[in-house]
Amino acid sequence: MTAVAIPGLDAAPTTHSGVLSWVREVAELTTPDRVVWVDGSDEEAERINAELVANGTFVPLKAKPNSYWAASDPSDVARVEERTFICSRREEDAGPTNNWVHPDEMKATMTELYRGCMRGRTMYVIPFCMGPLGDDNPKLGIEITDFAYVVASMRVMTRMGTKALEKFVAPDGTERPFVPALHSVGAPLEPGQQDVPWPCNDTKYITHFPEERMIWSYGSGYGGNSLLGKKCYSLRIASVMARDEGWLAEHMLILKLISPENKAYYVAAAFPSACGKTNLAMLQPTIPGWRVETLGDDIAWMRFGEDGRLYAVNPEFGFFGVAPGTNWKTNPVAMRTIEQGNSVFTNVALTDDGDVWWEGMENEPAHATSWKKQDWTPEPGEPAAHPNSRYCTPMAQCPILAPEWDDPKGVPISAILFGGRRATTVPLVNEARSWEHGVFMGATMSSEKTAAAAGKVGEVRRDPMAMLPFLGYHVGDYLKHWLELGKNADGAKLPRVFYVNWFRRGDAETDAGHPRPGRFLWPGFGENSRVLKWIVERIEGKAGARETPIGFVPTADDLDLAGIEEPKSDVEAALAVDADEWRQELPLIEEWFAKIDGRVPSTLRDELEALRQRLG
Ligand code: GDP
Ligand code: PGA
Ligand code: MN
Repeated sequence: MTAVAIPGLDAAPTTHSGVLSWVREVAELTTPDRVVWVDGSDEEAERINAELVANGTFVPLKAKPNSYWAASDPSDVARVEERTFICSRREEDAGPTNNWVHPDEMKATMTELYRGCMRGRTMYVIPFCMGPLGDDNPKLGIEITDFAYVVASMRVMTRMGTKALEKFVAPDGTERPFVPALHSVGAPLEPGQQDVPWPCNDTKYITHFPEERMIWSYGSGYGGNSLLGKKCYSLRIASVMARDEGWLAEHMLILKLISPENKAYYVAAAFPSACGKTNLAMLQPTIPGWRVETLGDDIAWMRFGEDGRLYAVNPEFGFFGVAPGTNWKTNPVAMRTIEQGNSVFTNVALTDDGDVWWEGMENEPAHATSWKKQDWTPEPGEPAAHPNSRYCTPMAQCPILAPEWDDPKGVPISAILFGGRRATTVPLVNEARSWEHGVFMGATMSSEKTAAAAGKVGEVRRDPMAMLPFLGYHVGDYLKHWLELGKNADGAKLPRVFYVNWFRRGDAETDAGHPRPGRFLWPGFGENSRVLKWIVERIEGKAGARETPIGFVPTADDLDLAGIEEPKSDVEAALAVDADEWRQELPLIEEWFAKIDGRVPSTLRDELEALRQRLG
């Protein structure tokens, strides 16, 4: 085969031989009409946004500067877990919680899908860096994509373009490793064929090759499937890097809590999707004198520093938040962040005056264009915004961003919170007895899918450290990794571990006389600052707790409840530990451990036995 001349291919602004050869290889396979090396400049962004507007992918907002509305194909609205693969060489390394296909077979299948798939399109080459550019060992990647929407979104979510590409060659001239991340919507254009606003393909693959540190994504434009620096790199691939290199890549927010005495505490928290990470990261405390600053709302990379403390860095550069439910009352900080513009809104509603709207936001419009591009009015019927609609907005615009957010050193974590959505059983907050017990709490974390269902319990699924859909290797090995890091660390400097649940409900039956049976027992949102305060006081040895079979739980009197509206009886119910309910958890935990295929670390089995003993 003779080398094909593809305009732009040879205009590479780098000498990095690995980048040059991989980009050429992909271009020859996918045969785009042209190649664009993305530099991240404002002029380039203007050009790309204008192209997206011309193609109907973007509608510029009149009400927010430099912001755009996009509506996806109705079939392409979320991550596709059943189409997500961890293609390690050995099936057992992917573990029982991941889809697996042998890498040779997957590459053969996907190579045929990729062959000619960019015909008629532009191939964008996006150099990016996950984490601060000033890191001595920057975590680099190249995303190749044929969707300009991905370029516009990666510009918000990652440090990208020339400033990232400059890091590919180290000061001493060595070429640094990078993660090749290939994305195509899988929709080649025939000559003269008109493009659609949201090209995609019914066949979808979100594939990870953990040993090669490589990502291949095909058929979807949805953020979690196409912005490959996020879940694919920073969690699935990075979790494997972290295992090999002795650190942690986690599905955690990072916040800074500042006490009235101006002492700062850094907290990381792992909650499954839609369980309150973004809201907690941007919390506005309701207790006087306390403040929160934000460092990250979704991902934390953590490693031990020379002083023996665990330091966390957020690899991302923007927020990709769930829109519905976000409003001036629940999350004013998110509202103030997006208000400044420079944002992409996907699958929300477009109002007639050129603004965005979604369910739960103030000022419901009398008419709007729904995410399905249909006329929408407030009559009961289909929602205006898709439940998984998203805002994509720069972190730098967050009004309470911590000044140290871009420091490669990271911030020393004092407390790790695990949490899920449980209507019963799990108290508002519970402190682990030890690191091992904390790992057990994370390993057996559970959450319900039935977010809206009042009253009785929905289906409970185990979601270890909120990483179930994001682990790049065997879950049993992952839990062992957590335990080993703790074993090798200075115990006194390890973060304290807590398990929280903002979502416990009043019992719809025994509460029949209550005006809101089945209500949330705890008000949540800004009031969660009361729980954070107790956590900090525990660390300082100042707050009380009672020892229960499951851990150390405050009484209502141990919490600062001054000025709270909820009756004390609700708070007490939120804090209750019912041994009967917990005994019912035991077989569910056993079932989950059985799924881990004989790789449950013995320490965690011992923790389960000890819990059984304490429950009597
Ligand atoms: P993330 O996906 O983990 O970042 O979760 P979000 O912060 O976007 O929240 C998901 C959903 O949970 C939204 O509907 C929020 O309004 C809701 N939520 C967040 N925090 C709380 C809380 O403390 N209490 C209650 N009841 N709901 C919350
Ligand atoms: P999430 O992931 O659903 O965990 O928020 C974001 C995404 O789908 O890309
Ligand atoms: Mn979030």
